[in-house]
Amino acid sequence: MSDLGPVSTADYEARAAELLPEGTLGYYAGGAGSELTLAANVEAWGRYALRPRMLVDVAEVDTSTTALGSEISFPALAAPTALHRLATARGELATAEACAEAGTIMTLSTLATIGPAELAAAAPEAPRWFQLYRTREPAVNESLVAGAVEGGYQAIVLTVDAPRPGLRERDVRTGFRVPPGVDMPAVSSALGRSEGVTVEEFFSIVDPALTWEGFAEMAEASPLPILLKGLLTAEDAALACEHGASGVIVSNHGGRQLDGVQATAFALPEIVAAVDGRLEVFVDGGIRRGRDILVALALGARAVLVGRPILWGLAVGGREGALAVLARLQAEFATDLALLGCSSPAAVSAGHVEPAGPAAQA
Ligand code: FNR
Ligand code: LAC
Repeated sequence: MSDLGPVSTADYEARAAELLPEGTLGYYAGGAGSELTLAANVEAWGRYALRPRMLVDVAEVDTSTTALGSEISFPALAAPTALHRLATARGELATAEACAEAGTIMTLSTLATIGPAELAAAAPEAPRWFQLYRTREPAVNESLVAGAVEGGYQAIVLTVDAPRPGLRERDVRTGFRVPPGVDMPAVSSALGRSEGVTVEEFFSIVDPALTWEGFAEMAEASPLPILLKGLLTAEDAALACEHGASGVIVSNHGGRQLDGVQATAFALPEIVAAVDGRLEVFVDGGIRRGRDILVALALGARAVLVGRPILWGLAVGGREGALAVLARLQAEFATDLALLGCSSPAAVSAGHVEPAGPAAQA
């Protein structure tokens, strides 16, 4: 790390690890089981090689694009992550302000330390999506969706890979519980409290019985477009198209759910093929560099979502730290886009990527 402070997302990760208490660090950094997928997510983007084209005019590079029709400054959004007040006192407000200044969309988690309506009131200018866990309590679900609609959220992200938490061993080792003084409004509504609650307990509010038929009814009734987050197979991507989804987020929850599933970089191609242009496809998991965003676009993603690096930025510098992480990723993306021989995200195509290593023997 330079004497002038963190530069790369890895620098922010290292600095955050020095600053965060053990329980919070374990909760933020941890994956499920043996953390095979946690590691694979990051490593897999490097298993693709970029194929740059030369003598292309890249004097002017425009990194902007759209996500479900909303303009974003570069193809990266903030993934929904819980409990931002464990990283910085202003919590998700700091994240919303950083995303607004960076020109991208924040996805507010159901398990945030502020409700959707309250965030919208405090940061009305910040473009936002709302990540919904369909809870066991219809009244809580109605309140969350109403808060998103009234709060001007542009889309709902329904997370479908977490009917229960994955095997989070770091949280067991540290005895992680929601610290005193930290409130998760949705959890308090459902359980009567947040303080002292374990991961298992706050996940217990999630309805494990939701099916494709139930999703189709939600999509039919929803005033907002719904993206499905957590799909990893072509079969489910096809079902998403057939049941009313407005987008798909290829995700394994940052390796925190079923350990041993594909890295998202390897799951993405089959889902892009199955969706076949019917919906926008997004991907998250292990995005740490601008070049990872390029690979994702070349593999057919519309944009990526970034999780842990924003948490590290919050831990290091609150709003300014999260903004610095987003700005760094955008700067890396802009440089690598030009070096790839492209002047916009739309110019990136399948021909700009190939499996790394020697060409397959004929
Ligand atoms: C998450 N993630 C997550 N996903 C979701 O749909 N709702 C949530 O509340 C959370 N909470 C959460 C907390 C923490 C601490 C982490 C690390 C992750 C998953 C998140 O949206 C995303 O899928 C991954 O974080 C992406 O991987 P990276 O970018 O963290 O490698
Ligand atoms: C997690 C939940 C909050 O991964 O999605 O911890």
